[in-house]
Amino acid sequence: MYASNEELLGLACEAAEKAYSKYSGFSVGAALLTEDGKVFTGCNIENGSYSLTICAERTAIFKAVSDGYRKFRAIAIVGGAEGDLTQPCFPCGACLQVMSEFCGGDLRIVLTDKEYTLDDLMPSRFALD
Ligand code: THU
Repeated sequence: MYASNEELLGLACEAAEKAYSKYSGFSVGAALLTEDGKVFTGCNIENGSYSLTICAERTAIFKAVSDGYRKFRAIAIVGGAEGDLTQPCFPCGACLQVMSEFCGGDLRIVLTDKEYTLDDLMPSRFALD
């Protein structure tokens, strides 16, 4: 059985607890559901050289891809300042672009308020093919 949205959000919250966000104080967690039901999680990892920071969504996607998974059904995302993960945390443009590399427009993007699709959040996307 596939993880429910609530389960994915719960896993994203657990991942956010591992965030390394000492510069912004903004913790983010993501839980990525593969086509065959496996879940990869990720957190944001900041760096003193600020631009080297990686977002939680890309951490999860790169973990999955580097383990051989390239097809995804859904990604749940939570984030907020000082541990408050209640407000919806939308993925940044860079993460949407990375999602679009591996996912169709029907990818489900699960936030705390509701579920969106990649088409909803990035209706026109750059692609080489
Ligand atoms: N962040 C994410 O992890 N995902 C996003 O989609 C947007 C922003 C992180 C990066 C940085 O560590 C913190 O949130 C504040 O920008």
